[in-house]
Amino acid sequence: MLASEWVPIFPDAASSFAWQVDALYAYLILVSIAFTIPIVAAIFFFGVRYREREKYATPEEMHGSIVLETVWSIIPFVISMTIFLGGAYVYFNQFRLPDDGMDVYVVGKQWMWKLQHASGHREINELHVPVGRKVKLTMTTEDVLHDFSIPAFRTKADVVPGRYTYLWFEATKPGKYHLYCAEYCGLNHSGMGGWIYVMEQRDFDNWLAGNESGQTPVQQGKDLFENKLGCASCHAGGDNQRGAKLENIFGHDVKLVGGQTVKVTDEYIRNSILNPSSQVVEGFQPIMPTFKGQVTEEQLVSLVAYIKSLSGVTGSAATPAAAAPAPAANTAATAPAANAATHSNSNR
Ligand code: CUA
Repeated sequence: MLASEWVPIFPDAASSFAWQVDALYAYLILVSIAFTIPIVAAIFFFGVRYREREKYATPEEMHGSIVLETVWSIIPFVISMTIFLGGAYVYFNQFRLPDDGMDVYVVGKQWMWKLQHASGHREINELHVPVGRKVKLTMTTEDVLHDFSIPAFRTKADVVPGRYTYLWFEATKPGKYHLYCAEYCGLNHSGMGGWIYVMEQRDFDNWLAGNESGQTPVQQGKDLFENKLGCASCHAGGDNQRGAKLENIFGHDVKLVGGQTVKVTDEYIRNSILNPSSQVVEGFQPIMPTFKGQVTEEQLVSLVAYIKSLSGVTGSAATPAAAAPAPAANTAATAPAANAATHSNSNR
């Protein structure tokens, strides 16, 4: 919105908070100019005005001035506080995640981005999103640090091995925007990029309909849980199961052996799969084997999505119907998404 149209090196401003970042930058640049010009001018002025006219002249002594000192303390204080408050405000907007964001899972690896929609659609180095819809990215990496960066949206976040980081945006203008990796990650770091396609809702629906969606992350997670990894043999056995209960735990506190409590988050679920003995739920034995090395980051993302669905937390699929608040609207969604919706309802 601001400046970006006519300043040559500026990227497009295409997200809901892009103008805030630009405004803050413009302010910083103005403040810098407002200080630089008078300082340079004063250097020249004093250089001429107080040049040496006679050898060993003794200047007149000057003692403090309360007014002057107060002024030059208060002005910088006000300026630095406005920068701080402006920065804090923009940061708060950018990194407080929306509750109703459309979920996209991102796994970085040397040297590509693998993305998956909650509807099951997979993409590589490309992400299609509808305009005017909040999109929430849950991100991790298979190998080293990467950084998911979209300059036109004025946002980026590190993607860190062994944990989840998050990013959200709401695109405001249809178009094609650069995606970069903004963290040096080895030989082909500079080639680790792609495009974000922002589409009108109608075009986006067509895109969804025209692409094979495959299983949703929740369905993949269920398959891993019940068949491939056999988690169900201990965790879905009813009252006397050997493993801790997984239903309706997400977002709540659980008590651990040793008296500690911990909130069930994405991170906790992930850790419980990879390091089961590090956080054993009270009343259970540390008998679960580690799944480290047996599951990929993408499978972990699916497992976490499935276990969250047992608490009624399902990813918002990339369909207009799923965005509607009324649950009945879900039946109008495309077949796989509707399956996911029914599935989550049955687990509530
Ligand atoms: Cu990935 Cu740089």
